[in-house]
Amino acid sequence: MDTPVEKKKVMLSGIKPTGDLTLGSYLGAIKNWAERAEQYDCYYFMADLHALTTRNNPADLRRRTLEQLAQYVACGLDPQKNTLFIQSHVPQHAELGWILNCYTMFGELSRMTQFKDKSAKNADNINGGLFTYPALMAADILLYQPDYVPVGEDQKQHVELTRDVAQRFNNLYGETFRMPEPFIPKVGARVMDLLDPHSKMSKSDEIGNGRVCLMDDPADIMRKFKRAVTDCDTERCVRYDPENKPGVANLMSIYSAVTGKSFAEIEAEFEGKGYGAFKPAVGEAVVETLRPIREEATRIIKDKAYLEAMCRDGAERASYIAEKTLRKVRKKVGLVAK
Ligand code: TYM
Repeated sequence: MDTPVEKKKVMLSGIKPTGDLTLGSYLGAIKNWAERAEQYDCYYFMADLHALTTRNNPADLRRRTLEQLAQYVACGLDPQKNTLFIQSHVPQHAELGWILNCYTMFGELSRMTQFKDKSAKNADNINGGLFTYPALMAADILLYQPDYVPVGEDQKQHVELTRDVAQRFNNLYGETFRMPEPFIPKVGARVMDLLDPHSKMSKSDEIGNGRVCLMDDPADIMRKFKRAVTDCDTERCVRYDPENKPGVANLMSIYSAVTGKSFAEIEAEFEGKGYGAFKPAVGEAVVETLRPIREEATRIIKDKAYLEAMCRDGAERASYIAEKTLRKVRKKVGLVAK
């Protein structure tokens, strides 16, 4: 008798190709993804449609989308074991996005903190897409019926809204979407800016000294860590206290995420040494983590044929699954079959 093959759980996540991928994107997202390929059926994509909610130089957006995809692969995401694709290559995202817009409430969208933050920062371009962004994100997720959506802390609210929209739809039309769970890493969920440990390390930050990018060269990385703000407490010792010593806590989280050492081990390692020894040690550990990624990404970016074939193959696989879900949705809401 055949033993039943257990179906792998599904995981899905996306990254907007705006700005440059940072240590935050790596520790908060990609690193965790790369470790899961054997255990889960994984879908990862470049959220280029989401990037249109802010103004971009078109040539830059195109280049970034491909470069960041190359960086995904260099971070360890194997395109044979994961489905990697570009969001706009799978038109089902835009179609389900529109449909789910009609099942997402104005009040819900108005409460999203990312919308509030972004509209404060882009007061001259508060467009409809920025407002309805979470409905498209819900579509991105629900098309693939994932069990888990690995994201950093800042995207949790959007995944929760996705669950509310899925529940509303299922209540109206019967079981259609699986309820996804946000999956937030314990370490690296919130990598903070090196110069302002109260705000997250952001890709789109224009002044670059508080953030470390995956493609930064080692000298730049060391300079940024040496200048990182520590705290103006009198004890000047390396101790994990996010409330009173947010700068040191952020550096400790980064060091812990790249070396695998616990906070207690880090405190012991730097006991009596002060910040002068600690900051370059964090810098060096980050340099060594990012070096192979930078080298491999540089190699892949030059191989245009490989990248194009990977995008085509990923979009084809993604589209097959997405269409299955969308076919059900079209029928349930009353659209005429083609
Ligand atoms: P985005 O592009 O802003 O960020 C991509 C992922 O990286 C995480 N992240 C961080 N984690 C820890 N510390 C940081 N400093 C940091 N910066 C970024 C984010 O939480 C995110 O997981 N809307 C999404 C993209 C998206 C998406 C989706 C994600 C579109 N559709 C569907 C999941 C599922 C965004 O703008 O992420």
